[in-house]
This record gives sequence, C-alpha cells and structure tokens, in this order.
Amino acid sequence: MASSGPSVDMAKAQKKAEQVFGILGGGLVSAMIYLGDRLGFYREMQSGEALTSSELAQRMGLHERWVREWLQGQAAAGLIDYKGEGRFSLSPESALVLADENSPLFLAGGFCALPAQMAVLEKLPESFRTGLGLPYDAFGPEGARGVERLLAPWYRTQLVPVALPKLEDVVPKLKAGAKVADIGCGGGIALLEMAKAFPRSDFHGYDISHHALARAEQNKAAAGVSNVTFHDARQEPIDADASFDFISTFDCLHDMAHPETVIAAIRKALKRDGTWIIADIHGQPSFEENLRDNPLASLMYGFSVLCCMSSAMSEPDGAGLGTLGFPEPVARRMVSEAGFTRFKSHDFDNPINAYYEVRP
Ligand SMILES: C[S@@+](CC[C@H](N)C(=O)[O-])C[C@H]1O[C@@H](n2cnc3c(N)ncnc32)[C@H](O)[C@@H]1O
Repeated sequence: MASSGPSVDMAKAQKKAEQVFGILGGGLVSAMIYLGDRLGFYREMQSGEALTSSELAQRMGLHERWVREWLQGQAAAGLIDYKGEGRFSLSPESALVLADENSPLFLAGGFCALPAQMAVLEKLPESFRTGLGLPYDAFGPEGARGVERLLAPWYRTQLVPVALPKLEDVVPKLKAGAKVADIGCGGGIALLEMAKAFPRSDFHGYDISHHALARAEQNKAAAGVSNVTFHDARQEPIDADASFDFISTFDCLHDMAHPETVIAAIRKALKRDGTWIIADIHGQPSFEENLRDNPLASLMYGFSVLCCMSSAMSEPDGAGLGTLGFPEPVARRMVSEAGFTRFKSHDFDNPINAYYEVRP
C-alpha cells in the first residue's frame, strides 16, 4: 500500500527521540538540583573534600542509600566529580554555581521555586483556553523566594560596585541624599543593597505580589536599615510629583500586564534631571533572530509560559510581552512614547540581561 504522508527518515526520528529523552533528563536533573539545594548537599560539600556516601549521610543525618543514589546521579550529570573508590567531591567551579550564595554565578537558589512552578502546570491548560494568566503570587511564598535567590547574586556583587558608577550623575546624588524607587522590587534585595551603600538616600520599593512584599519586609529587618519603605503598588502607587532622582525596574517590565501605564507613571515620578535604569532580558528583536542566535531561547520561552507571559496576561487586556518581549527596539519605542528623550545601552557583563539608562 502506498504511503500518503511525507516519507520518514528513521535515523532522524531516532535522533529526535534521543533529543526528547535528553530534555526529560534535564528536567529530572533539575529536580535533583532542587533536592541538593534544599537538603544542603552542595553547601556540605563546598570545601571540595572527597566523601563517601556513608560519610556524607552521617554528617547530614540522612539515609545512606538515598544519598548514594543522589550522588551517583549528580556524577552522571557532570555536576559532582566521582573520584573513584566510592568518593565524590564538588569542584570549586561547581561550588560557585551550586553552593556559594554570594557568587555572581550562583544558580541553585532559583531551583527552590521548581515545585511551585511545576504545580501551576495544572492550571495553565485553562489559561490557554481563556487567555487569562496567573500573577506571581500564584507560585506562593516559595515562588517569591526562588525569584529572589535567582536574581540576588547580581545585586549583591555587581549593582553597587560595577553598574551604578557607570550611570551619569547617579552615584554623587545617592551619596549626597536622593529619593529612589525600585518598581517591581520583588524581595527588595536590589533596594537593600543600595540602601546599605547610601545611608543618606531614601528608598521606596513597589510591587503587587504579597509574597514578594512579605519577603522584602523580612529582608529589610535582617539588613537592619531604616531608609527603606516597601509599598503595595495597587494601594500606594508611586507619586506622580516629579520628586524621584533615580528609579530602577529590574527584570519586571516584561512581566507587567500594563507596562505602558507603569512607564507613564515613572515619567511623571522622575525629576527633570533624574535617571531610570531598566534591566530586562537580553533578547533579539524578532522570533527569527532568537531562533537563530539565542542559545537560551527555549529556556526563555519556558519561563515565559510558566511565569512571565502568564503574569503579563494575568489581567484582562494584558500586554503579554513575556520573557523575550522587551528587547531594545521595543524598550526604545515604549520609553520614547512616554516622553523620555535620552536612551543609552549598557553591557554589565550579564549574559541574561540588557541594561538601559533612560532620562527625560
Ligand atoms: C521577575 S520578578 C523581579 C523582582 C525583582 N525586581 C528582582 O529582580 O528580584 C518580577 C516582579 O514584578 C512584579 N510586578 C508585576 N507587575 C507589576 C506591577 N504592575 N507593578 C509592580 N510590580 C509588578 C511581580 O510581582 C514580581 O515581583
């Protein structure tokens, strides 16, 4: 019988099956990283000492059989080194990515939100039907903690010493005493880093996520600073009184249901000689360019459906920009439509984010 469809190259199909199996493997290794971070394996192995599963289990008060299976899986994934004779160690390079919360390369923290992110999969088929997405609060407190731990290393290591000095006029104003806002502040780490460095300035964080604002208050108490106030942006939006010297929006415009409204509010809140710094995902201008040139595109589209576009579609008529939806040409157009006249791109050596210095 003659086949009616296109002919199938079985060798290519086999490769495709291997590719999909590899993707499943990545998902399961992610789940193991979640356990490694949650149980404290990476921190326990941070010194680089080569340990047997029995030694590690005893130190951590865990069951040896489970520890051995986890260690063997981590070695198979290339995250932990197998040293022979049943001994495993964490290399200094892996420690920077998986164990050291203050390293600029630390990534394991973001995995703490994985169960909460996967749990919303149950709700997303309905979003595909209705169009209405879920706000960040749908991920619960762990969702807010995961975003914070994923993004905090850059704020802790780069924001004050590396990025702020590259902006025109900003550091002298912050030293002398300026009024500052961080919109979409999440757990407030960026604002708290600035507040500690510039005690004469007055800092205001705005967010709509109750879980993020609760973390921000806890983080403020732990930092022991008094020059920071957090606001629920729905109850207390930023004042439209041209009183702010410096405003930041870090990784959040593409998540907003109505970014144009927030951008217009920033224009009204900023002084005539003020500065706004935008950090947003370093995407290409078009889907075709992302497909061709962006090695992180599939990761970003995954984040988008789970979190960013979902949040940006969580109100009726949401703009739905999504993770890759605010590349430089879109940023330039939207800020100029709001009346900003100066726009400068910065490269702060972050593979994920682009930075724009915007002024009235
Ligand atoms: C990816 S998180 C980034 C949080 C923080 N800037 C950071 O870097 O850790 C995006 C944040 O934007 C917030 N957000 C979304 N829409 C908002 C709006 N209209 N106004 C203020 N915050 C908003 C979310 O609640 C979430 O906390």
